[in-house]
Amino acid sequence: MVPKSYKTKEFDLSGLTGISDKTLEMHFKLYDGYVKETNRLNEKIAETLKDGKVDHEEMPAYSELTRRLGFEYNGMVLHEYYFGNLRRKGEPEPEKSSSFRKAAEQSFGSFETWKTDFASVGKMRGVGWAICFEDLENGRLSNHWITLHEVGNVAGFKPILVMDVWEHAFLLDYKPAERPKYIDAFFANLDWKAVERRLRAADRVSRAA
Ligand SMILES: [Fe+2]
Repeated sequence: MVPKSYKTKEFDLSGLTGISDKTLEMHFKLYDGYVKETNRLNEKIAETLKDGKVDHEEMPAYSELTRRLGFEYNGMVLHEYYFGNLRRKGEPEPEKSSSFRKAAEQSFGSFETWKTDFASVGKMRGVGWAICFEDLENGRLSNHWITLHEVGNVAGFKPILVMDVWEHAFLLDYKPAERPKYIDAFFANLDWKAVERRLRAADRVSRAA
């Protein structure tokens, strides 16, 4: 059954390396705000649609609510991907035989080059996200910079590995200029099995190898 609204998901992540419980507690609250705001926008839009039309007078407010969907939906979903690819006692690298490693090698030449690219995207100035996407058409991986939450996502591509590089993700633990240290901490807590499960073209990639 299609749910009427979105529910805030729970993530058990206390005790990470280099990302404090205090940061996580604050970050979960921010994420919860995106879920609530997504639901609120949908309710407001549904109210407007109740009489079966969008009046000329309603159009400015309706347009603003609809434009904000991109920010709130992506703010909700990207945080779920981000928390979902972290774990206590993470592994620094994916297994040698993993489909992710194979896809990274085929897309970038080597896992190390993929990692350099992904971490470098994360170090770009500005607030946003570094995201490794999979092109579901051919299994190719590419790393992208997402400004805020909604600018730069590729339509139809699937997020495989998501790193939040807004300052709220690390400012309680590191200075603003220490983002590279946070990126190291992110990699120290990575759940590569979760990343592997997201890869849709796993079969195709291993067949081609
Ligand atoms: Fe965040």
